[in-house]
Amino acid sequence: MAYEIWNRRYTGSKFKLADWIFDIINSYCTGSSFCDIFAGTGIIARRAIKNMRRVVINDFLYSNEIIYKAFFLQESFDVNKINNYKTQFQNTDIPSIKENYASINYGNKFFSYADALQIGAIRDAIDSISDVNEKERAILIASLLYSADKAANTVGHYDAYIKGYPIPDTFKFDLISPYTTTAEIKIHREDANVLARFLNVDIVYIDPPYNSRQYSRFYHVLENLTTWKKPELYGEALKPKPENMSEYCRNGALKAFSDLIRDLQCKYIVVSYNNTYASKSTSSRNKMTLENIKEVLETKGQLTCFEKEHAFFNAGKTDFAGHKEFIFLVKVY
Ligand SMILES: C[S@@+](CC[C@H](N)C(=O)[O-])C[C@H]1O[C@@H](n2cnc3c(N)ncnc32)[C@H](O)[C@@H]1O
Repeated sequence: MAYEIWNRRYTGSKFKLADWIFDIINSYCTGSSFCDIFAGTGIIARRAIKNMRRVVINDFLYSNEIIYKAFFLQESFDVNKINNYKTQFQNTDIPSIKENYASINYGNKFFSYADALQIGAIRDAIDSISDVNEKERAILIASLLYSADKAANTVGHYDAYIKGYPIPDTFKFDLISPYTTTAEIKIHREDANVLARFLNVDIVYIDPPYNSRQYSRFYHVLENLTTWKKPELYGEALKPKPENMSEYCRNGALKAFSDLIRDLQCKYIVVSYNNTYASKSTSSRNKMTLENIKEVLETKGQLTCFEKEHAFFNAGKTDFAGHKEFIFLVKVY
């Protein structure tokens, strides 16, 4: 199988809402350049490359950046070479693999021991390859991330692993399937508020974190597999020292959002949000209310709101009925 960009478990992914979001964008916005400034899985950028001339993709996670490079970077790659590595990685002789960083830290926890051995050995092997360009290297690492995520012993993120039963060996290295496009693509790994100051596009799509759950902590295993700096890990969930902690997950969220909106120079702003602000669990309660968001956006232009009932994608235990998704569309003055 070859992985598509949406074949991963990601909190807040707009995969199921992408048709609705693009119906609104296509009906109400004109323009040929687009920025997905909190791009997450990249599914919205994936849609944008179909009808925009220029697409900017940004997220501050390392794992997301390498995934965007693998799927979108417009650099040629040698399919035969990639397929040869796939065959090599699929046929690793597990008993001959030495203990490695992944097996020591994640074995019998986030992955079965044999799966962790393979994941670590493949990641080490990718770093020792010298005959690949940036695109080919990104394809190999992103393919490892998708393959590892599929085998992970979790509920969809890495805040904890599932305990209490033997973890089956399910890991199989498979490739992602890169996209071809005529759109000009620019990939960033920036704080959205920094990028906003020098961005120059017609339409900006904004889908920030909604609550106090930090993405860098949820996806720390994928971050670690990407950077492969092998840091010391701490606690039950084997997390590294904090990095890329988002202001949008803290009490400063509204200030960060107002600054972002103030600094954007574009024709249209499209914001996704939902109504989990009333959730009983503090960690899934929204950091900004819908009223907060409207007030900020009304200072920037003419605001139109859209809403949709939506079955909540929930990897954890929080249950929230009456879930609604919102789109706020601003035609900038
Ligand atoms: C709700 S998710 C986006 C989901 C995405 N629209 C999708 O469909 O997959 C929010 C994203 O914002 C990123 N993020 C959080 N704070 C950020 C910041 N200050 N700058 C850039 N990215 C940030 C997170 O890593 C996460 O991927």
